[in-house]
This record gives sequence, structure tokens and C-alpha cells, in this order.
Amino acid sequence: MAERAGDPAPAIYARLFAEFPEAEALFVRDTRGAVRGEMLAVAFQCLLDLDGSYGANFIAAERVNHEAFGVAPEAFGRFFPIVRDVCRELLAGDWTPEIDAAWNLRLARVGRLTQVEA
Ligand code: HEM
Repeated sequence: MAERAGDPAPAIYARLFAEFPEAEALFVRDTRGAVRGEMLAVAFQCLLDLDGSYGANFIAAERVNHEAFGVAPEAFGRFFPIVRDVCRELLAGDWTPEIDAAWNLRLARVGRLTQVEA
């Protein structure tokens, strides 16, 4: 990804803040983007580790932590689809049906972890 399209973080956070304008203010202390970078890196790690217990547990825990500092669970769950959409756009012609299928599978699993109870 990074070799082909560069760092996706700026585009991912631009999309996140376009969808949830109130979220940008929560990053006020992140003056150099280190927290945003770390958050995205951890989100990728969780996606890659859904088969072990680490990824699933981490996502479930962060959903609760994030709610405590003002991120609604609905917004939290949108982060992963936004990451997928931006990566797909940045990779353009390099985004293969196999990549698409792998993302869809993982997003479905993450969707179940971040679902808001009715
Ligand atoms: C709409 C979605 C999200 C928003 C608005 C959001 C917002 C934030 C904010 C404002 C912080 C900084 C908290 C502070 O001041 O210390 C933070 C940190 C963090 N977030 Fe998120 N978050 C979202 C989704 C996620 C997701 C899906 C994950 C991964 C499971 C995640 C993982 C983390 C981690 C690990 C940190 C700590 C990073 C560090 O300080 O090194 N976040 N998030």
C-alpha cells in the first residue's frame, strides 16, 4: 500500500472528519499527528489479527474507551469502512478482486464486533 500510494493517513483522516466534523476537535492535543498515525497503525494490526484474540478484544475494548472520551459507537464502527474506501481509491487499478474480497470479509467481522445493540 505505502510503496504504491504513499501514506494513506491524511486522506483517511480527511474523510473521517468530513463525515464526523465533531471528531476533529478530539485530536486537539495531537499537534504532530503521532496519535492519528498510531491509531491507524493499530487499526491495521487489529484487522490483520482478527483470527487471534488480540484484534477482536482490542477493538471491543477501544470501542468502550473511545465512547468514554466522546466517540459514539456508531462513529467508531465507521472507521474501518472509511479506511477500506480510501485505500481502494488510492490503489485504483492495483485494487484487485482478491483484495476487495479479503477486505469485505474482514469488514463483516469487524461490523459484528462494533455493532450497536438495538
Ligand atoms: C470515528 C472513529 C474514531 C475516532 C473519532 C477516534 C478518536 C481518537 C482520539 C481523539 C484519540 C486520542 C485520544 C487522546 O487524546 O489520547 C484516539 C486514540 C486512539 N485510538 Fe481512536 N478513534 C476512532 C476509531 C478508532 C479505532 C477503530 C481504533 C482501533 C481499534 C482506534 C484506536 C486508537 C488507539 C490505539 C489510540 C491511542 C493512540 C496513541 O495515543 O498512541 N481508534 N482515537
